[in-house]
Amino acid sequence: MRLNLPLLFAPVATTAFAPSCPKARPLASRRSTSLNNYSTVKWSPRGGGTAFSAPSSYSSADLDEVRAQLKSLMDNPSWDDGSLAPIFIRLAWHSSGTYDAATGTGGSNGAGKTHIVEAADPENAGLEVARSFLEPVKKMFPEISYSDLWILASYVGLEHTGGPVIDFTPGRVDHLDDSYWSEMSYGRLPAAEKYACPHLDDSNAAASLDAESGTVKGWEGLCTHVRNEVFYRMGFNDQEIVALLCGGHVYGRCHPNFSGYAGPWVEDMTKFSNEYATDMIEDDWTLVSNGDTWLDDMGAGELRPAPGKRQFVNKVPGRIDDEPNQMMLLSDMILAWDPNFRYHLEQYAADEEKLKHDFGVAFKKLTELGCGF
Ligand code: HEM
Repeated sequence: MRLNLPLLFAPVATTAFAPSCPKARPLASRRSTSLNNYSTVKWSPRGGGTAFSAPSSYSSADLDEVRAQLKSLMDNPSWDDGSLAPIFIRLAWHSSGTYDAATGTGGSNGAGKTHIVEAADPENAGLEVARSFLEPVKKMFPEISYSDLWILASYVGLEHTGGPVIDFTPGRVDHLDDSYWSEMSYGRLPAAEKYACPHLDDSNAAASLDAESGTVKGWEGLCTHVRNEVFYRMGFNDQEIVALLCGGHVYGRCHPNFSGYAGPWVEDMTKFSNEYATDMIEDDWTLVSNGDTWLDDMGAGELRPAPGKRQFVNKVPGRIDDEPNQMMLLSDMILAWDPNFRYHLEQYAADEEKLKHDFGVAFKKLTELGCGF
């Protein structure tokens, strides 16, 4: 399909953002609410919080057994679109995406989400499902640390679904208690609309669009959040950021009850491909919010986000099509709007093998940040 979004090619400032935006409040202020919510979740962190120590290495034979077990549970018709790979990949990403290069803190070493404080970061909503699916494997192989198991599960998931084959380096050791994360505030993981203002009129999402460019007003601030506050903080460059997003969001879907966003990014969300990149460039994308009931009439009601959220969908009001229901977050669309990101997006849209290679390299780097390997 054709792209009908006006695109920006002029260089844009990437430092401006709107601190008056509600999303710009320190995320730590949302902690007490989310901790209360967390108490309703049945998953019990580390069997009641018992401390344990994990060895720093395993034999390759041991790891092959763990790999085989993980592979056997990867296809699961009871969950979402029939695969656990997407939610394992997100668990590994969120486990790693807290890294801060300046202080050397955060990252996948430690498995902070086995403890309530990090697990209750609002951006981690839903990941208790992934941890629960992995708990039986942990019980079968108690000697592997949670932090290694989560990363290994994502590598097995990627390989099983046609993604890059990544060499696994073991050696992560779990934190024994909550003290490490209790000293940090939330906000290290990206938020899909941060600094993109004005905030929402649920009955009129289009009001937050810039008519001339077709972008969301304030997208430059969101771009600064994603690029500078999150990925540069970890030590990634623009090419790696685009590779990570193109490879990551080809998998799985958003869940209204987890993040408030709704639907998958691509048609085949359980296989690696460059479909996210091609569709972002080629499809027509419309900004919607919860009030966009016309989606229901088009059989695309699953793409209506929760109240207060905005997302793009591959539907146009009044236009009947047989396209599968797909969405993009505002934070995805910055890859098409920012000229430096777009350069790499176009490369990956044109070359799936290049994406697979570059994504594999960037994902290994991501999952080893702060591990000292
Ligand atoms: C700007 C950065 C990012 C933002 C704002 C973001 C945001 C989100 C959100 C809101 C969801 C939906 C969660 C849910 O409702 O279940 C999600 C899902 C997902 N994300 Fe990201 N993400 C980002 C980067 C990444 C990266 C770098 C990866 C991996 C390399 C990744 C992998 C995934 C996967 C696989 C899912 C689907 C999970 C499932 O199906 O359960 N994301 N992301």
